[in-house]
Amino acid sequence: MPLKTRITDLLGIAHPIVQGGMMWVGTAQMAAAVSNAGGLGIITALTCPTPDALRAEIACCRGLTDKPFGVNLTILPSLNPPPYAEYRRAIIESGVTIVETAGHNPGEHIDHFKAHGITILHKCTAVRHALSAERLGADVISIDGFECAGHPGEDDIPGLILIPAAADKVKVPLLASGGFGDGRGLVAALALGAEGINMGTRFCATVEAPIHEAVKRMLVEQDERATDLIFRSYRNTARVARNGVSQAVREAEGRGEPFESIAPLVKGARGAEGLARGDTQHGVITAGQVMGLIHDIPTCAALIARIVAEAEEIIAKRLVKFAPVTA
Ligand SMILES: Cc1cc2nc3c(=O)[nH]c(=O)nc-3n(C[C@H](O)[C@H](O)[C@H](O)COP(=O)(O)O)c2cc1C
Repeated sequence: MPLKTRITDLLGIAHPIVQGGMMWVGTAQMAAAVSNAGGLGIITALTCPTPDALRAEIACCRGLTDKPFGVNLTILPSLNPPPYAEYRRAIIESGVTIVETAGHNPGEHIDHFKAHGITILHKCTAVRHALSAERLGADVISIDGFECAGHPGEDDIPGLILIPAAADKVKVPLLASGGFGDGRGLVAALALGAEGINMGTRFCATVEAPIHEAVKRMLVEQDERATDLIFRSYRNTARVARNGVSQAVREAEGRGEPFESIAPLVKGARGAEGLARGDTQHGVITAGQVMGLIHDIPTCAALIARIVAEAEEIIAKRLVKFAPVTA
């Protein structure tokens, strides 16, 4: 019995595996590779410098895959907020059918997207936020545990608790996110009440990820202890790969310095430069604890096929032994 769930049906994908929005990584190339492999690839809108550049990226992705793909719109506190409404218009006018929203107050965006028949995946880090997104009309909730790369929120609840806690209350299908990288994780997610997994860090260590080989190698070489939580003191916590920048930020936060004083060090452009050049010390590199489970740099097709095969084998060979015998 293949791994078919409400997620695969709703999104029209072969396998219940989604690539979450990833700043500087979620390009058309990345999204198309995941979608062609039977998962759902997602372009990250704000990686495009302008709404018109996003239109071009979406068109490019259409040229690379005829499978479903989505676009992520992340709404985070920022000193200079991007023109969200214009990005939203670019997504709608490009005929995108699946959107991942993430971050603060998605209501206005969800209303607009839903008015155009777009399927909404909302990613959040707390059951209460999942319930409000469901009320606002989200079709799928992606629930991101404390292990995750990026913004885990401020409650520090790991997936082992957060996923079933969300599954107890949320009625729409759930994607388990944060810390997933192999078939064991997929089976665990299904056992906890999710209907698929969302991965970020694992997809960065693939052939198609548009980042320098040295960064991919760092993801392979580091283990589960090699992340730092930064921006805690600003109540905008982010989990990133530990490096000189993350350590300097933690020290500055320990001294009580305001965000403005560290802003030049953590600005997006610096992070993007580091990813492109392979300089793992240059800026912030978003990565999660799942680094401890990443041991190679496969193609997206090989990765997804392996995760699915491993999950099916665990269910068929290991778990089936525990199934109650029916008369
Ligand atoms: C390099 C990178 C950049 C990310 N940027 C974003 C982003 O811009 N918006 C967003 O919603 N999530 C972002 N995320 C989070 C992922 O979509 C996903 O929720 C998270 O990576 C799941 O945890 P995992 O890394 O353990 O799989 C990013 C993750 C990574 C690894």
